Amino acid sequence: MKGIVLAGGTATRLFPLTATTSKQLLPVYDRQMIFYPLNTLIKAGIKEILVIVAPDHSGQFLNLLGSIFKNHGISLFFEVQKIPRGLADAFILGENFIAGDNVAMILGDNIYEDDLSESIKNFKSGGTVFAKKVKDPERFGIVEFDKDGKAIRVVEKPKKFISDYALTGLYVYDSRVSEIAKSLTPSDRGEIEITDINKKYLEMGELNVQKIEGEWLDAGTFDSLLEAGNVVKEKEIYKNFDPLIDKAIADFNEELKIIAKKRLL
Ligand code: DAU
Repeated sequence: MKGIVLAGGTATRLFPLTATTSKQLLPVYDRQMIFYPLNTLIKAGIKEILVIVAPDHSGQFLNLLGSIFKNHGISLFFEVQKIPRGLADAFILGENFIAGDNVAMILGDNIYEDDLSESIKNFKSGGTVFAKKVKDPERFGIVEFDKDGKAIRVVEKPKKFISDYALTGLYVYDSRVSEIAKSLTPSDRGEIEITDINKKYLEMGELNVQKIEGEWLDAGTFDSLLEAGNVVKEKEIYKNFDPLIDKAIADFNEELKIIAKKRLL
């Protein structure tokens, strides 16, 4: 299983914070946002991860992540997405990296309370996605279930209510996903939609939708960024980190302190 963190986009809703850095590098409580999705993948035992970033602040991602895992058995790769063409673009940009393996893609601003490792580890083929009940279904990709709880329809940001289960920002697919992504035509908002990938797997009868109960946060607005920090603190989500990633962050912080001290001498 390979991993992808999609951390590009323009994040205009967080302007002017995002004039000076990327959304996924903003703090959520005591660490940069991107560590949360990285943790979801690393906890599931994924050792090779592609981080897709936008051109504007790409150097800052390298400063933070360029060598942070080098002594911890995790290989990070980087790719620049020049234009935010849509979430499905992750599988086109990442095609050579995926190289015929299965892949778990997570959005760089998505934070999960639940440990989804077993679902990722047990994945065999098709697609597995994670649904969470929300109050504002018009903002998300939505999945409708029949009376037996079987997924029957997925719609991106439905204007009319069909269900209040949102498809969250973690997607596990087999290697066919890159071909599917390449076959998509852009939606009305000009993006190649992850929902269209899910539609294809659903049509093939190979979309597994798992409901999640714990907190799911996406930190794309001032309010949701603030809420993410508060929930992470209150529910102690920052304590759910894999020891490997905690150690890597601690080592990195130690290194920064030594460098800062040398500068002062
Ligand atoms: O948060 C989950 C939702 O994410 C899903 O329920 C929707 O089905 C899915 O379309 C997406 O909804 P949004 O339209 O709200 O996604 P947004 O444009 O905010 O992008 C999500 C993240 O992906 C964001 O951190 C920026 C990054 N991104 C986005 C695009 C379009 C990229 O890195 N590249 C892109 O091309």
